[in-house]
Formats: sequence, structure tokens, C-alpha cells
Amino acid sequence: MSLVLPENFKAHYRNLSKTNPDDFKNIEIEEFFKYCGLPLRKAFRFNQLKYRGNTGKNIFIHETEKQKWEIEPIIWCNNGYFVDRKEEVKTIAIGATVPHVLGGIYLQEASSMLPVTALFHGHENIDFSDLSVGDLAASPGSKSTQIAEKMHGKGILLTNELSSTRLKALYSNLERCGVSNSLLTHYDAENLCNLLPNTFDFLLLDAPCTGEGTVRKNFKALENWSPDDAVTMANLQKKLIIAAFTALKNGGELVYSTCTLGDPENRDVVNYLREKFPNQVEIISLENLFEGAEKAITHEGYLQIWPQIFDSEGFFVAKIRKNLNTKTIEAQNKIFAEKDKHQEEKNLKKFPFTKVTKKQNVEILEILYSQWNFALPENFELWNRDKEWWAFPKRIEHFVSNIKVDRIGVKIGEMHGKGWKTVYEFCSAFGNICTKNMLEITEEQVKKVYAGNNLDFENNSDNTKLIFNKKEAKEIMLTYKKFPVAIGKMTIAGNNLKWKNQLPRVLLRNLK
Ligand SMILES: C[S@@+](CC[C@H](N)C(=O)[O-])C[C@H]1O[C@@H](n2cnc3c(N)ncnc32)[C@H](O)[C@@H]1O
Repeated sequence: MSLVLPENFKAHYRNLSKTNPDDFKNIEIEEFFKYCGLPLRKAFRFNQLKYRGNTGKNIFIHETEKQKWEIEPIIWCNNGYFVDRKEEVKTIAIGATVPHVLGGIYLQEASSMLPVTALFHGHENIDFSDLSVGDLAASPGSKSTQIAEKMHGKGILLTNELSSTRLKALYSNLERCGVSNSLLTHYDAENLCNLLPNTFDFLLLDAPCTGEGTVRKNFKALENWSPDDAVTMANLQKKLIIAAFTALKNGGELVYSTCTLGDPENRDVVNYLREKFPNQVEIISLENLFEGAEKAITHEGYLQIWPQIFDSEGFFVAKIRKNLNTKTIEAQNKIFAEKDKHQEEKNLKKFPFTKVTKKQNVEILEILYSQWNFALPENFELWNRDKEWWAFPKRIEHFVSNIKVDRIGVKIGEMHGKGWKTVYEFCSAFGNICTKNMLEITEEQVKKVYAGNNLDFENNSDNTKLIFNKKEAKEIMLTYKKFPVAIGKMTIAGNNLKWKNQLPRVLLRNLK
């Protein structure tokens, strides 16, 4: 199928290039139309939350060779690669392969990696321990997982999505990629930000938009294109950017991005924010974001990625710092001091989880240590609800006393009459820092686990005798190339060992 761009779309951009020659001085408009019809290069990021450090990178490279993927680094994203597949594997969906399902890679269009690179540009070695980062329109989670990777499980990552159906996809990607420090919320971003003024050190507003830049991936994206849609969308985007700015701390930084091309949803939205807060908005130029960025820079310092510049989707990225003057800071502090602290405390009491007592803390940590050699990372503390035990990132009180949160941190396990059960989420988020009761399996065995099968092992083989010398059932975590795969109960069955699969049913699928 080849793309036929709507005539009114072409006429609109041809006209703009004539009426605004300065904006189009490096843009060849017919070249733009030609690129809209070219197939898009596939790209992905490898996920260092799973492929840790240099060893992780080597395993990733080895895995790409095994899968017959040819990769080429993307200049603006450390872990981003264009990927070309050898002919014999072209029909195998990358999403159905073992490295993807185990959270080692995230399929993401190359230019869509730019907003997060821009967000942390200039803060490459920052310690996130005491910081709060928000992703306001987050599903399906390509940028949230990219942010999480930079945070290394430290600080708090609030990841929000308005649509209920898209919220599920967001959660499943966070879980797959082993994100541990997230707070998942389900709000209109404008309302959310108004409930959390002056809260975030970094915010991403990857705004809902008309998607003019996505036509190479989806030829139907412009089928019913009309310039009026951009105007309607811009009204929403303006509300969202004002609210996002309110939720930033003084000195905090905001990235505004869209996958569309026209000014009404891009520079006009950012310029609207500048007009509203003329003394507080500082634009940080993205001219030096990466080698070659100057080819896409506007005179204000925004990145306007036309598809033909880097052979990618179209994207827009702007970076803003909030600079309040002393007078405004004093006025704000007064408002916050007057805020009803009593109400916050009341809200906290309604929160269905309780922080564990010292005794419970010791008890659960001892179970986790003796079972997995696991020590809870510094950024987390244990919370409890009925039989469930969870690791939440520290400092969630400010959030849970002001907003409703759908899911926080990582569920670790459950305590039943029969004893302790570790759950899959723990395996995905913390499995790669566990060192006890682990059993390495083959790629074929991973596929069997994902098909829902139990596995049999030879008793007392070199692999199993170190971990299984007991009569009673014992939790064993399976790994593939040190990647946590799943937890199940191992028992003796005749001369063999049987591993009983406890992978959640929603994750079962046929892998290629
Ligand atoms: C461009 S997409 C986000 C893509 C995502 N950042 C990623 O990289 O995977 C915009 C998202 O905003 C959501 N959305 C639309 N209106 C919203 C609102 N008022 N508040 C929060 N999210 C909204 C849409 O459902 C959509 O998932």
C-alpha cells in the first residue's frame, strides 16, 4: 500500500512555506511529502534496568546477533538503536521474542526517544534519590520506561494516563521492564497537576496531539486531516502546559513534546505559556542536544523534527525551566503553609496500606534474604495490606495524601497460612539483584514457561543440586542469561524435579 497524502494537507503546508519563508528556509516541502510516504526504520532501546552495566550491554549485543538483528546506534539516545532484520527473520515480530518479553528491549520510534534525552540533558550524573519526576500523558509507556531507566530505581516516578484501556498497557510495560519506583495514576493531567502544585523536579508532557508526524508508521493518520483539529487540540494542550508548569518546583524543568508538525500544537502552545508567565519561563535551547541538532532547531531553541531531516517520524520538543522570583516564592510558601495539613493527615489515614512495624520489617527482610539473598534497595520501604507485602519508594506520603494512586512500587509477596509466596512482580523488578535459589534455563525452556508449561529437571544435575537438596517444595526463580524469567515451586517427582509454573496467566503467550 502506498500513501496518498490528502490534497488539503499538502496545500496547507505548501502555502505555509510561502507565507512563512523564514520557518521553512531549510525545509524542502516536496521532500517532506516524499518522506511521509517512505517506510519507517524500526528502532528500539535496550533496557538497562534489565541488562545491567557493561555485562548487560555485552549480553544485549550477543542477543541481537543471535536473533539476526542488525543494529545501528541512534545518536541522540545512549541505548537506542535502529534495527534491521535479516531476511529469514523479517516476519518474526520483535515483540514476540524472548529479549522483548523479558523486558530487555522496548520498541520505540527513534525521534520519540528525544524528549527524555532532552529532559535530563545537562543532568547526566544526577542522583535521583530525593527527586520527583512525572510523565503526565504516559501510555503506552515508551518514555516512562526510558525515564525509569535513567532513574535506576531511585526517587519517585509518577506516571499518569487518562484513558482506562491505555492505563493497562502502561502498567504491563512498566512491569515487563522492571520499573520499581513508579506511582501509577489515572487522571486528567490538568486536574492531577492542580492537586500537586510545586511538586516535581522534572516533568514530561508528551501531549495528546493530532499526530501529523506519525504518518510513516500509520498511513491512515492523515485520512481525515483538517486544520481545525489542530486548533481544538491546541486548546487542550494549552490547559495542560499551564497546569504542568504549576506542578513544577521552582528551578524544575519541563519538556513539552508532540508527534505533530504544525505550529498551533507546538511553538504556539509553548509561546502561550511564555506569555502567561513572562518572568518565570526560561526556554532552554536544545541546539546542542546532539551532534546535528542544529539542523532541526527553531529560532526559539525548540526542536522541530521534520521526517526528512533524520529519516524518522516527525516530532516537536521544547524544554522549559521554571524560575520564580523571591517575591513569588514567598507568596507561594504562604499559600502552602496555609494548606489544610489536617486534611492531608486525614487522607493519609484512609490510605489502605500501612507502613510495616520494625518487627515486621525484620521478619519480611529475613524471609527475602534467606530465600533470595535479597536486600531491599535504599530507596524503598515496606508497606502492608492484609496478606500482601509491598516495596514502595520512600516519600510517597505527599502524593497519597493529595491524589488517588492506582498502583505504587512493587508487590513483593503474600503471607498465607501455608507460608510465604513471592510474586512475579518481585521477580521482574528485583530478580536481577537476587543470587540464591536461581536456576538458569535455555531459550527453549523460556518459551515453554510462557506457553504455561511446568518444567522437569534432572535431580542432582550440576545445575540443580546446589539449589535443591530438600524434600519440601521450594520457590525457585528461573533465569535466562541472568534475566529473571519467573518464580515457581520446585518439588521432587520420582527421580526428577518438577518446577510448577506460577507465571500470571495474563502474561502467557506463544513466543517466537
Ligand atoms: C502522545 S500519547 C503518549 C505517548 C507516551 N508518552 C509514550 O511515549 O508512550 C498521549 C497520551 O495522552 C493521553 N491523554 C489524552 N488526554 C489526556 C489528559 N487530559 N490527561 C492525561 N492524559 C491524556 C492519551 O490517552 C495518550 O495515551
